[in-house]
Amino acid sequence: MPLNVEKVKYPLAAPATLPDVHDFASWLLAPAHRIPPKPTRPGLQAVLFDLDGVLVDTAAFHYHAWKHLADELTLPFDENLNRSFRGVPRMACLDLLLGEHARYFAIEEKTVLAERKNGYYLDQVRTLRPEDAAPGARDLLTELRAAGVRTAVVSASKNARLVLDLLRLADAFDTVVDGGDVTRGKPDPQCFLKAAATLRTAPQRCLVIEDGEAGIRAARAADMPTVGIAPVRGAQRSVGGLTDLSLPFLDAPYATP
Ligand code: G6P
Ligand code: MG
Repeated sequence: MPLNVEKVKYPLAAPATLPDVHDFASWLLAPAHRIPPKPTRPGLQAVLFDLDGVLVDTAAFHYHAWKHLADELTLPFDENLNRSFRGVPRMACLDLLLGEHARYFAIEEKTVLAERKNGYYLDQVRTLRPEDAAPGARDLLTELRAAGVRTAVVSASKNARLVLDLLRLADAFDTVVDGGDVTRGKPDPQCFLKAAATLRTAPQRCLVIEDGEAGIRAARAADMPTVGIAPVRGAQRSVGGLTDLSLPFLDAPYATP
């Protein structure tokens, strides 16, 4: 049924400047305009990229931030524990850090500690520059877009959009699913299925690039083929970095013999 613009009431949050009712109607309908058509490309239709450790090397930032907090709490923390945090949401990482002590902390206290860690992390993240994007990332994204393959960032991080902005990569992706968009973090498949639905691609036509075991498990649970950056347990194929990837390589699982 066509929209009767005369009957549309301005919601309280309407933008301050609305020149006329037709502009208002297109503003109101804009989200519907952004729904992409169903892809028709044979084979691979979307590549879903993890952010931390795939598109940018933030592992040291996370390590130093958690180490700072651990030292303040006089808790042990090392590279091994930091590695097990890959792809794991912030509060779940805090529980892993607190270990057997976790039950003595109220949720409010844990929230303060997690925020403190995030402050230490952000102090370092703010130094990111476009040239800090992983080698090969921009070329690969250009190649995929030229071939009509859709792209997404699917990250457990609530800082994902900030990091993409600092790297000037935000416009290179068709959609972003971050830690604030889901109710269950990796290894639950929710984040990857949400990206596939937004891109209107079947999960089996989405390939996931991940550096963390939790992410690989989430992708496998979503029925998506996986490529690990450096060896990751459970990944079907692994490469050293994005410079090793090309469209023919990513398309290979779909190639007909
Ligand atoms: C990524 C990192 C994890 C981190 C998580 C949450 O998945 O690999 O180590 O814990 O994001 O990040 P955030 O920026 O929201 O604390
Ligand atoms: Mg990662």
